[in-house]
Amino acid sequence: MPTPAKYSFEGLDSRKAALRILDAVLRRGQTMDNAAQVARSLPPADAALASAIAGETLRRLPDLDALIDGVTRQQLPEDSKARMVLRLALAQKIGLGTPDHALVATALPLVDGGPRRLVHGVLGTLLRTGVPAIDAPRLPDLVEERWRSAWGDDVIKAARRSIAHRPQLDLSFASVDACAAFADGTSLAPRHRRLAGHGAISELPGYDNGQWWVQDLAASLPARLVPASAKAVLDACAAPGGKTMQMAAAGHDVTALDRSESRLARLSDNLARTGLKANTVAADAFEWTPEAPFDAVLLDAPCSATGTFRRHPEVLYRARPAIIGQSAELQARLLNRAADWVKPGGSLVYAVCSLEPEEGEQRIDAFLADRPDYRVEPASQLVDGVTPHSKGWLRVLPGMLESEGGLDGFFTAHLVRTA
Ligand SMILES: C[S@@+](CC[C@H](N)C(=O)[O-])C[C@H]1O[C@@H](n2cnc3c(N)ncnc32)[C@H](O)[C@@H]1O
Repeated sequence: MPTPAKYSFEGLDSRKAALRILDAVLRRGQTMDNAAQVARSLPPADAALASAIAGETLRRLPDLDALIDGVTRQQLPEDSKARMVLRLALAQKIGLGTPDHALVATALPLVDGGPRRLVHGVLGTLLRTGVPAIDAPRLPDLVEERWRSAWGDDVIKAARRSIAHRPQLDLSFASVDACAAFADGTSLAPRHRRLAGHGAISELPGYDNGQWWVQDLAASLPARLVPASAKAVLDACAAPGGKTMQMAAAGHDVTALDRSESRLARLSDNLARTGLKANTVAADAFEWTPEAPFDAVLLDAPCSATGTFRRHPEVLYRARPAIIGQSAELQARLLNRAADWVKPGGSLVYAVCSLEPEEGEQRIDAFLADRPDYRVEPASQLVDGVTPHSKGWLRVLPGMLESEGGLDGFFTAHLVRTA
C-alpha cells in the first residue's frame, strides 16, 4: 500500500483526476491503467495519488456504500456525483490515512454548484461518528455469490482479507545467479524472490539490464510445467512476455505469438532488457498456422483476469457473467486451435489468471471430452501450499500461502497429446 506520507494532501487536481478515473472504471468499464491516462498531464506524485485514491476506493466499494447509505435518508443514486465524491473521501480516510480537514477541503470543490451541502453533511456525520477501518472489505455481491458457490465460504473470507492491500512484489529470474542482487527477498520457488517493501520498480537493482521481471508467483507456474525436454515451444498468447522469458531462460527455443503489435513491442523490450531470445510473430492465432508442429505449446489465454483482483480490484466490476461467457467461448476455440499445433507425445499447457471455473476446470473438462487425443499430465507440487488437484491440474485460490502474502488466483493444466 502506498505510504500516505508520499502524497501532498492539499492537491485538488489529483482528486478531480481520481473522480474521473473512478467514473471511467465504474460507468464505462475501463481498466484502471487506461482510465489513469486522464492523470498523465499531472506531476507524477499527483498522478500517483489520483490512482491510489481510485484504487483504494475500488478495494472497499461495497463497504463504503454501506457507510454512506447508513447516514442518508434517501439512497443516493449509484452513479451520482455525490456518491462518487463521498466514496473517494472515505477511501482516503481508510486506505491512505488522509487527515479529515484535507478530505473535506478537497471533496467539497468537486461538487461545487451541485450537492455541496448534502456531501458536506454526510461527510461531517461520518467523520464525527467515526469511520471504521474495514480490514476485510466485502467484494461485490455478484462476485461473492459466484465464488461462494464455486469455492466456499473460507475462500470468500480469504479474498476479503487479501483485497484490503496491494500485494507484495514478486520477481522471476533468468538464472539462480541473477537472484543474488535480491538476497533480502523471500524465495518461494526456484528463481523467485518476493519483496516486501520496495520503491519504484525502475529503481530496483538491474532494472535497465537485469535478468529479472515482475511476475506474480502464480503466473510463473504454467511455464514451470513445460517439460525440460521440449525443444521447440510456442507461447501462443505471449505478450508482454513473462512466460516467454521464463521459457527462453530455461533453454527452450521459443516462438512468441501475439495479435497485439503494441503488446508485442513490450515483449521485445523485455527481451532486449533481459538479454533473452525468442522469435516474435505478430499475428492472430485464428489466422496464423505454424510451418511445423511444436514439442510444446503454452496457451496463456485471454480471460476475465478475476484472479488479479488484489492488484486490479476493478476486474471485479468489469467481469460480468456475459464477459466470462464470451471469454470461455474464445478460450475453447483457442484451445482447439493450439491443440492441433502440438506433436504427438508433446505438451499443451493451458493457463488463465481467473477464479472462474468456466475459464479453468470446465474448459479442460470440455476440451478432454472433445479431444480423445489428449490427457492431463498430473502436475507436481511446484510451490509448497499449492497442492495439485486430484484431476492433475493446479488451482490457486485466495487463502493459499496467506502467511507469505498470498498469490493471484490462477488455473493451469498440463495436457499431453497421446496420438
Ligand atoms: C493473458 S495475456 C498473455 C500474458 C503473457 N502470456 C505473459 O505471461 O506475459 C493474453 C494475450 O493474448 C493475446 N491474444 C488474444 N487473442 C489472441 C489471438 N486471437 N491471437 C493471438 N493473441 C491473442 C492478447 O493480445 C494478450 O496479449
